[in-house]
Amino acid sequence: MGKPRVFSGMRPTGRLQLGNYFGALKSWVDMQDDYECYFGVVDWHALTTGYEDTSEIRENTREMVIDWLSAGLDPEKSVIIRQSDIKEHAELQLLFSMITPLGWLERCPTYKEQLHQLEGRDIMTYGFLGYPVLMAADILAYKAEAVPVGEDQLPHVELTREIARRFNFLYKPVFPEPQALLNRDVTLLPGIDGRKMSKSYGNYILMSAEAKDVEERVGMMVTDPERIRRTDPGHPDVCTVYAFHKVFSKDELPQIEADCTGARVGCVECKRRLARALNQVLEPIREKRRALMANPDLVEDILRDGARKARAVAGRTLEEVRSAMRI
Ligand code: AMP
Ligand code: TRP
Repeated sequence: MGKPRVFSGMRPTGRLQLGNYFGALKSWVDMQDDYECYFGVVDWHALTTGYEDTSEIRENTREMVIDWLSAGLDPEKSVIIRQSDIKEHAELQLLFSMITPLGWLERCPTYKEQLHQLEGRDIMTYGFLGYPVLMAADILAYKAEAVPVGEDQLPHVELTREIARRFNFLYKPVFPEPQALLNRDVTLLPGIDGRKMSKSYGNYILMSAEAKDVEERVGMMVTDPERIRRTDPGHPDVCTVYAFHKVFSKDELPQIEADCTGARVGCVECKRRLARALNQVLEPIREKRRALMANPDLVEDILRDGARKARAVAGRTLEEVRSAMRI
């Protein structure tokens, strides 16, 4: 009781890659004791850019929840939901859509950028423009005060604050103005090709990857292109393997840097060290995943229980909203 409430969500992209884990999921796991947490698989949001082929949404939801649990999200501590199970999100989205000026949405930087990026897909839709309104509904249905997100989501949290303020001004003060919580320990995790790790670039390592896959993917990582021979001194700053060591081998970092710049250890050995360090972190997660897979009903049971708890809270918010709006 009395802990600040938090909501965050991820679109159901299936098994998570390491960037998702270190950039987002790990901080969720670490927040569970200090906050009252609600975490949602936002399957309606997946439809905003992928409404044509919906064949994988259910399975991707399941796989992602298994990853959440194997990383340490605990349904005894946190409420874990699937967005489409909680119809209150949809009702609140509809009501918010009445008070959200079109200009706010059209000016949203993520909207303009995505329109460009996803150019072959037809996303000139009402639902896609309204993406941030649905996100505001996710957050405000629980009156969450804090929203852990990556930097790319800041404009959406700002819009959420504006929608809350406008509602409070037009009707009654019902909503808090939620704060974004940026995860500051993890900068962007690169993929094996040095660009941002992302499923869409094919440069990722899955959080649930087997030890052998990890070794193989680390073996493919790009290193300093100027270090051609084993005897050439390396430049850790331009090396992807070193960027990973910064996250996974914190204690040995000075040694690793000296071994590279002094040409004492070759890239192959340096990659072996990294694969070992990575596998040490991932083994307990893999082990948990194997145990969870033994119970085929587990995910549905957890989502059903989460929906029950979430609906109780969101239902009360919606009663207040209807009363404030006199409908
Ligand atoms: P996405 O489904 O790609 O939007 O990823 C969900 C969340 O994972 C994002 O909001 C980021 O916070 C985090 N994330 C994804 N990729 C990376 C990465 N390469 N490095 C750090 N964080 C990441
Ligand atoms: N838009 C977020 C993303 O793409 C996902 C999301 C939906 C979300 N609703 C949310 C995040 C509410 C935080 C709070 O990553």
